[in-house]
Amino acid sequence: MMNDQGTEKIIDETKQGTTLTLKKEEANTRKLYIESYGCQMNFSDSEIVASILSQEGFNTTQKLEEADLVLVNTCSIREKAEQTVRKRLEKFNAVKKTNPGMKVGVLGCMAERLKSKFLEEEKIVDMVVGPDAYKDLPNLIQEVDEGRNAVNVILSKDETYGDVAPVRLNSNGVTAFVSITRGCDNMCTFCVVPFTRGRERSRDPQSILAEVNDLWEKGFKEVTLLGQNVDSYLWYGGGLKKDFEKATDMQKATSVNFAKLLELVAQAQPKMRIRFSTSNPQDMTLDVIESMAKYENICKYIHLPVQSGSNRVLKAMNRLHTREEYFELIDNIRRILPDCAISQDMIAGFPTETEEDHQDTLSLMDYVKYDFGFMFAYSERPGTMAARKLEDDIPEETKKRRLQEIIELQQKHGLLRTQQHVGKTEEVLIEGASKKSDAHWMGRNSQNTVVVFPKENYKVGDFVNVKINDCTSATLIGEAVEYSKNN
Ligand code: SAH
Ligand code: F3S
Repeated sequence: MMNDQGTEKIIDETKQGTTLTLKKEEANTRKLYIESYGCQMNFSDSEIVASILSQEGFNTTQKLEEADLVLVNTCSIREKAEQTVRKRLEKFNAVKKTNPGMKVGVLGCMAERLKSKFLEEEKIVDMVVGPDAYKDLPNLIQEVDEGRNAVNVILSKDETYGDVAPVRLNSNGVTAFVSITRGCDNMCTFCVVPFTRGRERSRDPQSILAEVNDLWEKGFKEVTLLGQNVDSYLWYGGGLKKDFEKATDMQKATSVNFAKLLELVAQAQPKMRIRFSTSNPQDMTLDVIESMAKYENICKYIHLPVQSGSNRVLKAMNRLHTREEYFELIDNIRRILPDCAISQDMIAGFPTETEEDHQDTLSLMDYVKYDFGFMFAYSERPGTMAARKLEDDIPEETKKRRLQEIIELQQKHGLLRTQQHVGKTEEVLIEGASKKSDAHWMGRNSQNTVVVFPKENYKVGDFVNVKINDCTSATLIGEAVEYSKNN
């Protein structure tokens, strides 16, 4: 959609003695088609890109065939994610035959990882832009317009896009992402993110609050604060997290950590639901859990990836905590937030993983009984420490079998957890129609579990108390009782 501001840029053009003043929109309305893959941060970044380009006279379109510019925001986390993007590029190539003026740019992690090699490997690509270079897009597009390929993959120490007001894409008008940190300093040995998204930096809390307040004004009811590692959020006036030591005493004294940021956001909009993702066990502190307990509007849900239950594997992954320390954290969460849902990310078949290590993962899961999980077979990523130092030695069938065992156990635990909601009345924020039935709404409770119930007279964006009558391993089924007091 066209952002209002996009029409206000004036071009003065002197032509044969007469001065023409054209609104950029009239002079140059072009169609942008943007597609995103991978993590929530990528979807959020695409909204920043759409905002930057709306200032340049680009309208977004849902129709690939009519696009002047096609952008694909890519993911490198596993090989399969990259293959998906390559397949899409083939499709773009086919479309280009009927739309020869169409230009194609790749954004995101694959752009950063492959750099100008992308131009050689995929002839369809005109432009390669890394995650910190989106403000340079207007210049890069000009290069492309003039017939040259364009590349900018420079990573930044301070780019957070804090001053860009995202254009919400495919929005339900109810829930939105707000990014709070960029990059990651953790260097898990399997992970490509520190290479593609650079060093960790935090965004100014004032700009975060301004974005949250603006979303509330626009009718949004829930925000998810996003970062690769939100618990590591630290604002001391700008700069990289790793340079905090060098900050002045004044900067240190007035710094804002994640627990404090959560409180600021929760207080700023007490009727808005606050979520966050992702937490890292090694960085999550008790004060974050206490902030969650203090504010009703902070949702009781923590995504707490662990990757493996084996101390030996955790060490090889450079996850800087043990199984026992993780249990301690889980115990603290359960003590302070008895109703809190917890979810995991798990990797099956990391190099050297033995059957015993795998059993440790299953027993860790038995201890926690996660509400949800995101589970993957290990995929070697070029350039990571694991790829350089360890042989990818677990046979594909073994990885698959272990992954399947993890998934089955997760389904069992998921069902156990959803069953605990049956009989209760819980507050649900309505996000839209249920995928399976037009007569039902779909929303989530505080714990992030999907709830479906008959629509009656309720509408999208309402907070409703729903009596839970039944469940599957991932969904709660109920009926609305009344508007919640939050409404
Ligand atoms: N920053 C988050 C998530 C990063 S990527 C964190 O702290 O965990 C999301 C998930 O993808 C990871 O948690 C991990 O489970 C998975 N993942 C990352 N690299 C992977 C790889 N090389 N192979 C398989 N799964 C991987
Ligand atoms: Fe990746 Fe570990 Fe950071 S999984 S994103 S390096 S916390």
